[in-house]
Amino acid sequence: MKITLVKERKQKPDFTKLGFGKYFTDHMLVWEYDESKGGWQEMEIIPYDDFKIDPACCSLHYGQGIFEGLKAYKDEKGNITMFRPQANFKRMNKSAERLCMVNFDEEEALKGLTELVKLEAEWIPTEPGTALYIRPFMFGSEAFLGVHPSKKYIFTIILSPVGSYYAHGLEPTKLIVEDYFTRASQGGTGEAKCMGNYACSLLAGEEAKKKGFDQVLWLDGEEKKYVTEVGSMNMAFVIDGKVVTPELDGSILRGITRDSALTVLRDAGYPVEERKISIAEVVEAYKAGKLDEAFGTGTAAVISPVGTINFKGEDMVINNGKMGKITEWLYDRITGIQKCRYEDKFGWVYPVK
Ligand code: COI
Repeated sequence: MKITLVKERKQKPDFTKLGFGKYFTDHMLVWEYDESKGGWQEMEIIPYDDFKIDPACCSLHYGQGIFEGLKAYKDEKGNITMFRPQANFKRMNKSAERLCMVNFDEEEALKGLTELVKLEAEWIPTEPGTALYIRPFMFGSEAFLGVHPSKKYIFTIILSPVGSYYAHGLEPTKLIVEDYFTRASQGGTGEAKCMGNYACSLLAGEEAKKKGFDQVLWLDGEEKKYVTEVGSMNMAFVIDGKVVTPELDGSILRGITRDSALTVLRDAGYPVEERKISIAEVVEAYKAGKLDEAFGTGTAAVISPVGTINFKGEDMVINNGKMGKITEWLYDRITGIQKCRYEDKFGWVYPVK
């Protein structure tokens, strides 16, 4: 791997006022694939900078682009860890297959990421609720206007010190159920972490914000009957003491935080059900006083309590709009494992140095 260092490091932002995804570190990783040159080229770490892209770059037109999100943490002794990075690269290769893009060597990617995180150690915030967000992404970079898979790709990793994803932190979020627009349907790209899934969610998201909601809760694309996900997070409910979450049906992102949450809940003896859950069931549980809690899971969102769900103009205010007990327990467990306060029973913590 070739490493080119910046001449002068940037001034760091105030780590107590980071927000999400606004600041970027001094270096980035770039790894190019070119079929005509035999495939993957030498990986490089270079100063963070603009890309030079041909206007005919195919992903600007046809959207062959995928990404991931994971985090690195630093404890008070300066030990650096990442959370389940292997799972992210594995999922990224699955997304690549769905978008007809090339696969990459996951071990090489992890080695490169580890070098990059080591180099940017001083950018890892340690304040409560903060982390170094890692954004690997890959896009087709061949210049052409016909519709076919690119023969050139750019795999990049950028890093951003972040605080809470939501401006209101751990205050429960307000969701509105979207019953017109569709995020994903069977056979589509819903399970892949690809650019288009996020682009197609923006219009409904903006409409939701105008009405005072934070995010959209998506229903299935066929019947508009079953709850799927929120786009920036997977969704779970606590109904009558049981944690119920939509099953992975091909249209829902295979969330790594979702998997971690379900694993620690099951391990602690909480009943967990992964199955179809209709919005009618959620409304019925609410009316019967059995919708105890609702929460989202995601790398950026971590474990986010949901305080209100609006369906067809009616607000369901969950647990008086406050974070519920199971959600709070789960937030503590997941962040505790991530930040090495609790035992890493499942082997999820990856030491950087
Ligand atoms: C993540 O949680 O890492 C994501 O990629 C979601 C994105 C909307 C920030």
